[in-house]
Amino acid sequence: MIDYLRASLQDLDAKQIVQYITDNYGSRAVFSTSFGIEDQVLTHLIAEVGAKVDVFTLETGRLFPETYYVWNRTLERYKLPIKAYYPQAILVEEMVTKKGPSSFYESVENRKECCFIRKIEPLKRAIQGYEIWITGIRAEQSANREDMDFIEWDEGNQIIKIHPLFHWTLNDVESHLKEFNVPYNPLHDKGFPSIGCQPCTRAVAPGEDFRAGRWWWEDKSKKECGLHVTSK
Ligand code: ADX
Ligand code: SF4
Repeated sequence: MIDYLRASLQDLDAKQIVQYITDNYGSRAVFSTSFGIEDQVLTHLIAEVGAKVDVFTLETGRLFPETYYVWNRTLERYKLPIKAYYPQAILVEEMVTKKGPSSFYESVENRKECCFIRKIEPLKRAIQGYEIWITGIRAEQSANREDMDFIEWDEGNQIIKIHPLFHWTLNDVESHLKEFNVPYNPLHDKGFPSIGCQPCTRAVAPGEDFRAGRWWWEDKSKKECGLHVTSK
């Protein structure tokens, strides 16, 4: 099925991909938004075509105030239901009681534990039962992502992932935001090309990698939280 889908989608632009997904999958497809600039473009396209896909966000409990601000502005502008998934309270309570509120700085193992509790476990609940998972990933974001495809089979999660903006450049994204006056995270204008949890994201210098400000204290090769580690 994935080969058929790939062939059907490969010559379409992002808006046409969203249209195709809603026409053929409707609420069997789900879009994950972190309210980053790519996700804002996708939310705009979803609203524009009146797509019936479901939308969710993973509320880790450690987001920037600016992320809540753009979340509110997105609700006001697009009036789309955005389902919030939270980590399981008991797991957060145990981890923070045992290791304190900033254990992620102490080791990669601790960081992965926190990402698992606050993102991966809620993600599994969020995508459960869907056939298509839409994300805002772009190839340009990292070397790892360049090796991905705009459509892929996620073996671990048993779901087809589609990244409609896969071939977009940063300039394409910024132009779209501007042209349609799409609300976006004010941190973006302060040197944050990629925005995750507040304690684990900082601004990057001009010319630095898009993801250099994510888990900046860690070795480059380990800098994925596990949401998009795909075994094909
Ligand atoms: S991450 O793996 O480093 O966290 P990144 O921030 O680049 O991912 O975002 C890539 C895509 O993952 C986003 O376009 C979005 O689809 C999804 N995503 C990332 N973080 C979240 C989140 N907190 N809630 C929902 N989706 C998210
Ligand atoms: Fe925890 Fe940081 Fe991962 Fe957020 S990005 S879940 S705060 S380790």
